[in-house]
Amino acid sequence: MIVKKEDIIKLPGLVDVHVHLREPGATYKEDFESGTRAAVAGGYTQILDMPNNVNPTTTPARLQEKIRVSKGKIWCDLGFNFGATVDSTRYFPKVYKKTFGLKIYMSQTTGPLLVNKLQEQDLIFKSWLSNLPTMVHAEDELVEVAIRLAKKYKRKIHICHMTANQLKAIKKARKEGLKITCEVCPHHLFLNRSDLKRLGPLGMMKPPLLSKSDQQKLWMNLSEIDMISTDHAPHTLEEKYDQSSPKFGVPGLETTLPLMLEAVARGKISIGRLVEMTSTNPRKIFHLPAQPNTFMTVNLEERYKISKKGLFTKCGWTPFVGLEGRGEIKKVVLRGQIIFENGRFSGKPQGKVIYPD
Ligand code: NCD
Ligand code: ZN
Repeated sequence: MIVKKEDIIKLPGLVDVHVHLREPGATYKEDFESGTRAAVAGGYTQILDMPNNVNPTTTPARLQEKIRVSKGKIWCDLGFNFGATVDSTRYFPKVYKKTFGLKIYMSQTTGPLLVNKLQEQDLIFKSWLSNLPTMVHAEDELVEVAIRLAKKYKRKIHICHMTANQLKAIKKARKEGLKITCEVCPHHLFLNRSDLKRLGPLGMMKPPLLSKSDQQKLWMNLSEIDMISTDHAPHTLEEKYDQSSPKFGVPGLETTLPLMLEAVARGKISIGRLVEMTSTNPRKIFHLPAQPNTFMTVNLEERYKISKKGLFTKCGWTPFVGLEGRGEIKKVVLRGQIIFENGRFSGKPQGKVIYPD
């Protein structure tokens, strides 16, 4: 096929503030190398790693260990979010300049981090020193507790993986002047509860898939949502199908751009708004350092069904199998160097560990 020049578009490197790279502690399902390869293959050049490792990122030593281990292995730029527990508050003065968001798990999820007592949540909101957002995992109406605490201590707050039933509370808080931002995940945009019949455990994540009308509500309210984050949360197939302790979470770094470009083609979102939600806004909100001369080129003529073939994530599966995808990344350029071209990585990993600007 002859590719016309008009079919190739240039996009900025994408940004994802919500990624679980699993190193250290669970490198059998992802590590810094494989996870950042998956990121670049999906068009991401800057990502933030979440703290819910087996030994969570809740001390300066564990943060330092991640920084040390990741050096020389990362294909894109990588920053870290810090884990909130009552004990970790004492380290906030030491780590707040080295990390982006403080992540507080107010609802139960994968990993050992859960803070479900109001008194403890209060102390954490009170203690975080950074002027970057506290990132909250607060499902359903728990979001209102998080909003109250953010108001009380005048903190910026970022609602992770928001769901349609939280839109009202988020809009209200914004109207009242709270610095509140939110992200939506591709699985909540492209899947709903009825897909569970087909996907079984592969469709299980936190927060869970909701109804088709909730899914549609997210699309109708994209203008209220600041960014798209993948919540890339790889688990092995064995873990997903293990009925004695099912693991929640799905991978997403390599499938978000093709799914969203297909949505652009169908008129569900403009390309400009997609760039805002996947690059401009997260960069601004999380004070991410600029990445000069960093971009990708994409052939928009390429259309295909999403499959697990050729995925770089170690977990090797995707819940989006069979969905329409669009766009083939021709190349990804990081600070002037081609790091990925026609499906292949070139040179050595050029990613840097990043700190807030
Ligand atoms: C995430 C994971 O596996 O680490 N799982 C998930 O279902 N989203 C944890 C999280 O983000 O809550
Ligand atoms: Zn997550």
